[in-house]
Amino acid sequence: MNKGIIGGTGVYDASSNSYIKEVETKYGKVQVDIVEINGEEIVFLARHGKNHSNPPHLVNYRANIAALNKLGIEYIYATAAVGSCNENYAPGDIVVITDFLDFTKSRPLTFYEGGKEGVKHVDMSDPYCKNLRELFYNKAENNGLIIKGEGIYVTTEGPRFESAAEIRMYKQLGGDVVGMTNVPEVVLAKELGMCYSVIGIVTNWCTGVKKEITLHDIDEAVSKNKEKITKTFIDIFKSDITKEECNCNNALIEL
Ligand code: HPA
Repeated sequence: MNKGIIGGTGVYDASSNSYIKEVETKYGKVQVDIVEINGEEIVFLARHGKNHSNPPHLVNYRANIAALNKLGIEYIYATAAVGSCNENYAPGDIVVITDFLDFTKSRPLTFYEGGKEGVKHVDMSDPYCKNLRELFYNKAENNGLIIKGEGIYVTTEGPRFESAAEIRMYKQLGGDVVGMTNVPEVVLAKELGMCYSVIGIVTNWCTGVKKEITLHDIDEAVSKNKEKITKTFIDIFKSDITKEECNCNNALIEL
């Protein structure tokens, strides 16, 4: 078992043919679903918990990634509901995330806190696995998924939405989409040498861009796409994936 899916808002399970497993980690307990696909087990983790019970600033990101690592997971596809501050990406669109800006404030951001772990820094020149990204492009069309483009993900602390002035600033800094969860998730995965790729589902225009955010927008955009995205992940996971085409395993720099 070395492949996993992290489901974001509205994407809570991958298949009915699954069983639940509890994983103990140094950071806390995590519940995952194990799904059997073509004789191989794939792990499915609902980022916010099964009932969407953990708000973005309180998600136990270290426990989630440590649990996947403990299960032997090396390849992760994730989904993330995002607002758009790029006029080209409208609610309902799918955007492949290529880089991030981090505006989080109060979350544990690393597994490496000195002491016997040593002082380690992780290279972020390529936060999202190039190879997983390529594979997603190749398979998406077969599943009727239109990828609208690529984007830079701004991570805010949440749980509040942004002010219109903040969104203007993020846009000027080069952000395309805004969400509350991708940092530290992507960083922690990279610290453990995992290949990680996240697909943004645009659920709303960001504050002040076009119209007000409504929950209805969010539900509709996610449900329209989640099955096709999950199916694409699973299709990709049906074949062997290697670490030969990426640098994810070599990103940790020890001083
Ligand atoms: N801002 C932050 N996070 C989000 C948004 C947003 O507009 N939409 C979905 N997640």
